[in-house]
Amino acid sequence: MNLKVKVSDRIYWLGTNDRRKALFENLWPIPDGVSYNSYLIADEKTALLDTIEMGTGGDYVGWIEHLLGEHHKNELDYLVINHMEPDHSGEIGEIVRRWPNVRIVGNIKTFKILEGYYGITQNLVEVKDGDTLDLGHHKLQFVTTPWVHWPETMMTYDTTEQILFSADAFGTFGTLDGAVFDDEIDCFEEKYLSEMRRYYSNIVGKYSNMVQKAFCKLASVPLKTICPLHGPIWRSNPQKVVELYDRWSRYEAEDGVVIIYGSMYGNNAATADYIARKCAEAGIRKIKVHDASKTHLSYLINDIWRYRGVILGSCAYNTNMFPKMEHLTNELLHMGVQNKLYALFGSYSWNGGGVRNLNTFADAIGWTRVADPVDVFGTPTPEKLTGCDIIAQNMAAALAKHE
Ligand code: FEO
Repeated sequence: MNLKVKVSDRIYWLGTNDRRKALFENLWPIPDGVSYNSYLIADEKTALLDTIEMGTGGDYVGWIEHLLGEHHKNELDYLVINHMEPDHSGEIGEIVRRWPNVRIVGNIKTFKILEGYYGITQNLVEVKDGDTLDLGHHKLQFVTTPWVHWPETMMTYDTTEQILFSADAFGTFGTLDGAVFDDEIDCFEEKYLSEMRRYYSNIVGKYSNMVQKAFCKLASVPLKTICPLHGPIWRSNPQKVVELYDRWSRYEAEDGVVIIYGSMYGNNAATADYIARKCAEAGIRKIKVHDASKTHLSYLINDIWRYRGVILGSCAYNTNMFPKMEHLTNELLHMGVQNKLYALFGSYSWNGGGVRNLNTFADAIGWTRVADPVDVFGTPTPEKLTGCDIIAQNMAAALAKHE
């Protein structure tokens, strides 16, 4: 791309925007795309920090050559690998082909995956937590942060300029549309906040306890700038995204409720709307209702992360849960989502199964129940929905108590 975007005097952003891909990890929708960031430090010694997804960067190697050429006659001394997932390691092969003597910096887990993906076993510089690398003006320190997002993941801290190269942490879905830095965007909340939480909840959220451990390691580290591998560089107020990640990884949520239902012929959908109305009458001011057949799992998880109250409904389907609800609840168990107030509802025509299996899920995940489940036989008439009034009232009371 040959842009020259400076993070500081000798540090360059080398990133690309992916607007082609429909599904991140071939799983999560990215209607607004995603960026892959890498960084080049052109000091007395030169270092490239991570690469980008293969094939997304045009002449990525030529871009690096161009920047290096201005400073160092095209010598690349180090490739620092903070994260091996292919959206960041995709160009490692090209880098090693162009600079065969480049020394590759990573930890022992990095190198196992590096060999597995790319067959590279040479010129490795193994670092452990707290080890340093002197580039001249810039002194780098490595912070191992396993499972944020893979076991090998680490961060690199530039002690000279207090810049944290944070790998996936503090990243977001959404491309960088001209603005690379947070202070170049007027509308952070509108453009990135929901997508950042969706990225966190979908990709990193399962490892929230490991995010908290990483925070402990970084607690006393002054941060002037955070350079993640996806999304904007945070330099005007890096503390803002640190606080967001801290909240999300402690499962702190907004006082509102998300109602998610599976419904074949509309009966359970009618119950969901009834509960939503009763929630509004009870004073809840943030209410979101989703049909699990229409809204992608990715957005359902995002709203579950967002709101403290979760009300799940399933019609019976072959004596089980509705498949879309079964998928959602399996994913919530897999992610180990915690700290929710919940209630359940459903409908059936013969033997039931929706609410029965939702109950099994609820027992397993260990959230706090606010009211007895309501399982409606046939059409949800007002007489059959009195229990839903109690769900709404109790949910409002429980949310108020948490304030
Ligand atoms: Fe952006 Fe875990 O890769």
